[in-house]
Amino acid sequence: MRKTELVIFDLDGVLVHTEKYHYLTWSRLAEENGWKYDEAIADKVKGTSRLESLNTLLALNNLQEKYSQSEKEAFCEAKNRHYLSLLSFLGPDSATPGTLDILNFLRENQYKIAMASSSRNAQYIVEKLGIADYFSLILDGNEGFPSKPAPDIFLVCAKKSGVMPESCLVIEDSPAGIAAAKAAGMRFFYYSAFSETEECFSDLSIIKQNV
Ligand code: BG6
Ligand code: MG
Repeated sequence: MRKTELVIFDLDGVLVHTEKYHYLTWSRLAEENGWKYDEAIADKVKGTSRLESLNTLLALNNLQEKYSQSEKEAFCEAKNRHYLSLLSFLGPDSATPGTLDILNFLRENQYKIAMASSSRNAQYIVEKLGIADYFSLILDGNEGFPSKPAPDIFLVCAKKSGVMPESCLVIEDSPAGIAAAKAAGMRFFYYSAFSETEECFSDLSIIKQNV
């Protein structure tokens, strides 16, 4: 039997280069409110849910007690409005190079394909990219799972797909996502759609060599 039965894709930073826009929108919110936000903080929040990201950002500014839940929700909504306004360009050409190649390869070779994203915008983005039909299951930030690095989203993905965790391969770009895959007992492949500071693979087809 093959070692991989189910390939679970993360979305932001893997199938599409949206992390840049998460970074820009958190940056602006932080600037407007006098909070510190930099690349190191961005790396810590990457892959975690919107509210978890805000909580981490506030904690790193020693402001965890300053705001009420409704103020935090208002910050998250403002951040998301700005984020969505920057995504108007999204279309089939915005997917990471090699996306259709790897998805077609996996489908033709009868691998199961799923997505597990912390984003509450995942369905919208996947529709814009025109790749929704490739996934037998999409779990996103609307499901209410504890945020990555908790393994829950990956474990439920495997269970609903009828596959054991050890037969899953997770494709992730964030430290939180990699930690979640490890905690789920799954194999993982680090892939970053874009990085200004590290060398990265430019084409998602690289995964063919790792399933
Ligand atoms: C993750 C991103 O996929 O989704 C995070 O890596 C982001 O950067 C999180 O904060 C939540 O996204 P959204 O779209 O629900 O604000
Ligand atoms: Mg990601």
